[in-house]
Amino acid sequence: MEEAKRLSGVGKSVIRELFDLAQGKGNVINLGIGEPDFDTPENIKEAAIRALRENKTHYTPNPGIIELREAICEKYSSEYGLDYDPDEVVVTVGACEAMYDVIQAYVNPGDEVIIPDPGFAYYSAYVKLAQGVPVRAKCFEEDEFVLKPEQVQEKITDKTKMILINSPSNPTGAVMGKKEIRGIVELAEDNEIILVSDEVYEKIVYDATHYCAAQFSHDGGVIVVNSFSKTYAMTGWRVGYAIGRRDLISPVALVHQYSVANANSIAQYAALEALRGPQDFVREVVREYRKRRDILIRELRKHGIKSNKPEGAFYLFPNIGEDSREFSRKAINAGVAVVPGEEFGEVGKNNIRISYATSVDNLIKGAEILGKVYREGT
Ligand SMILES: Cc1ncc(COP(=O)(O)O)c(C=O)c1O
Repeated sequence: MEEAKRLSGVGKSVIRELFDLAQGKGNVINLGIGEPDFDTPENIKEAAIRALRENKTHYTPNPGIIELREAICEKYSSEYGLDYDPDEVVVTVGACEAMYDVIQAYVNPGDEVIIPDPGFAYYSAYVKLAQGVPVRAKCFEEDEFVLKPEQVQEKITDKTKMILINSPSNPTGAVMGKKEIRGIVELAEDNEIILVSDEVYEKIVYDATHYCAAQFSHDGGVIVVNSFSKTYAMTGWRVGYAIGRRDLISPVALVHQYSVANANSIAQYAALEALRGPQDFVREVVREYRKRRDILIRELRKHGIKSNKPEGAFYLFPNIGEDSREFSRKAINAGVAVVPGEEFGEVGKNNIRISYATSVDNLIKGAEILGKVYREGT
């Protein structure tokens, strides 16, 4: 049976292929993972257990329980001075669903969506599923992979429907400054393009400041996508959200309603506790990530690999001077899994994404092996 045309160009990811290869090998140090290695904090787990005991096991309102949407609005008000109403929030099955819904709600066949290169691989898949056209705006290594408004401007045509930004970035860890975010928000407004800002790593920042793109919007034409996955080590719970001006969010809520009805009820109560409960966990893990980032950069350098020093997320994106898939295959055979930069776009064809969401011991051993693979290839 012929599959639907919207699936064309949406293939199995190389990441999967490499990890299948790694699984068969045993003893491979995994520096390819895109999730925190910490467990969900106890208070959050307890809130879920309580919700279960209290039989909060029924359908919830489609956009999510009101308490959670109120807590999300309070967060945006206290952290960014933004005034949202609970009707302007849709609680989704992770940021993945939020992103999928937003794209389904706005992108028609043939519409162009500007996405960063390198950028999270799911973006172009979502655009293709809507039969839109992903257009890549380059983030250059010499700019520390920060997306510049000029690069976005160059890609705007009369077919551009949406611009998607992501700071801190997966895969580079780059954090966009005020100037860049403001510049891109203004470009979107001047050209009547929807701006979607994926801010799932907002709390994992080091010496930089995270700005919410909606802070720079004059007309509220920004949809922010966020998640509990990375901040609270809740990847498996699958809770995220989209937040934006009522008229912009309501088509998103419709896609959400007919695709999943609502996010898991128990997980929504857990997410509520994540926002309302103590935030020490977040501070502690960010301190730990920073320590690991510095150790990994030092160890890589010791073994001949020079890396970028990102201000956010938990990835490095060093240039390894050769085809990234080839290098990653060799690395797996040598005992360490990393993700080829090519997976995230053309700019990363000679880079690898190394995750430091793992133990210091793994980072030290992994860096040594990567150094060996690197030296043998040069
Ligand atoms: C940039 C980015 N956006 C979205 C997601 C998806 O997050 P969630 O677990 O909330 O679906 C990820 C996960 O890796 C990510 O790196």
